[in-house]
Amino acid sequence: MDKTNRRSWAEPFKIKMVEPLRIISREERERALAGAGYNTFLLRSEDVYLDLLTDSGTNAMSDRQWAGLMMGDEAYAGSRNFYHLEAKVRQHYGYKHLVPTHQGRGAEHLISRVLIKPGDVIPGNMYFTTTRLHQELAGGTFVDVIIDEAHDTESTHPFKGDVDLKKLAAVIEKHGAAKIPYISVAATVNMAGGQPISLGNLRGVRDLARKYGIKVVLDATRAMENAFFIKRSEKGNEGKTLADILLEMCSLTDACTMSAKKDLLVNIGGFLAMNDDALFEEARNLVVVYEGLHTYGGLAGRDMEAMAIGIEEALDLDYMKSRIGQVEYVGNGLIEAGIPIVRPVGGHAIFLDARKFLQHLPQDQFPAQRLAAELYLESGIRSMERGIVSAGRDKATGKHNCPKLELVRLTFPRRVYTQAHCDVLVESVIEVFRRREKIRGLKMVYEPKYLRFFQARFEPL
Ligand code: F0G
Repeated sequence: MDKTNRRSWAEPFKIKMVEPLRIISREERERALAGAGYNTFLLRSEDVYLDLLTDSGTNAMSDRQWAGLMMGDEAYAGSRNFYHLEAKVRQHYGYKHLVPTHQGRGAEHLISRVLIKPGDVIPGNMYFTTTRLHQELAGGTFVDVIIDEAHDTESTHPFKGDVDLKKLAAVIEKHGAAKIPYISVAATVNMAGGQPISLGNLRGVRDLARKYGIKVVLDATRAMENAFFIKRSEKGNEGKTLADILLEMCSLTDACTMSAKKDLLVNIGGFLAMNDDALFEEARNLVVVYEGLHTYGGLAGRDMEAMAIGIEEALDLDYMKSRIGQVEYVGNGLIEAGIPIVRPVGGHAIFLDARKFLQHLPQDQFPAQRLAAELYLESGIRSMERGIVSAGRDKATGKHNCPKLELVRLTFPRRVYTQAHCDVLVESVIEVFRRREKIRGLKMVYEPKYLRFFQARFEPL
């Protein structure tokens, strides 16, 4: 990294309130990990020192957002905060209609139910766990059409989230447009390492979709972070604001699902947004059944207010520079130390390449699961497996899906941790890497039916 330029990502905010962290002993960590079945999802947060499990709902809100909570209008119907949020979504995402939901998967559930018929096929730029599950529960099958580079942890392609338009065209040819309710496009692509999609590629997807009369649905969960990468690396976009780019991205799609718990700097919330009146009509009918009335969708008025304020804050370029800058600071520290990570460093997380890190472990001994557990033992840092456990089983054969990527995700909550925390993190990973050859695999001793990574239990071999 350019050391002379280090100040460029310094945070445009200061700390007003602190939350004490507990330093836990090695013995306590061993006990906690065994109690959690070697699954970091099952640890208690009070047993964790640095919590890098997820960037979802773990953000620090600003003083303005906290003030916004006090302006919550907790009316059952027609809350003032809903209209504020609707105006901000229209202004910055550009869709005509807003359906609030309690979080992202609420929106995924609704859109999957409305658009997917049994036997349908949904192509997309790599699966996400909840997104694909809702597509499957509605009777659909997800087909991955991301570019090959996304599966290669060493490729430094700047837009590894791009759709392979040839693969997409082949899927449409094979199944026919009538079987494809929509193309599912994520920005940035979580499971590929927080990798962005380019505007040019999204335009290509839109053109192809339009030719066949297929809809494009954007997973806008981290679209603002994606916009930053477009501004920085896609020619012709340097002069645009993040807001310009976000609006342009959304304009190439028909609808979006949103987990506001990421980009929007809040602790809970989500929405579905779309242009089509008929689609809106159906989603609005269903939201009442599964989430809540169409002007609150499972949220309190105050939550919608915090989201509306968060939209403006997250589009601030100085904030976004510090956000991505922090992740890159850690990434560069690890790269300098020779640790195998997914390159280039993505938007919300660093992904350790567990296949390369623990080369001696076969994939069915859950190397990424083991590495996440080991990092916790080392220093109380909580990370997350994104490999064979997360990929689940094949619907037809019942065998493990064996993804090419076997990763451990170190995810960065927004505006939460300091640069000194980042240094501790880098030191800890290096320490585990030094003694990697002594680390043994795991066996799974309990496996839940859905989204098994959340609750599965393991024992060391
Ligand atoms: N889409 C993406 C790309 C996500 O990363 C998530 C959640 C969702 C949809 C679902 O949203 O959690 O609000 O229901 N990702 C979290 C994570 C859980 O840790 O990556 P949700």
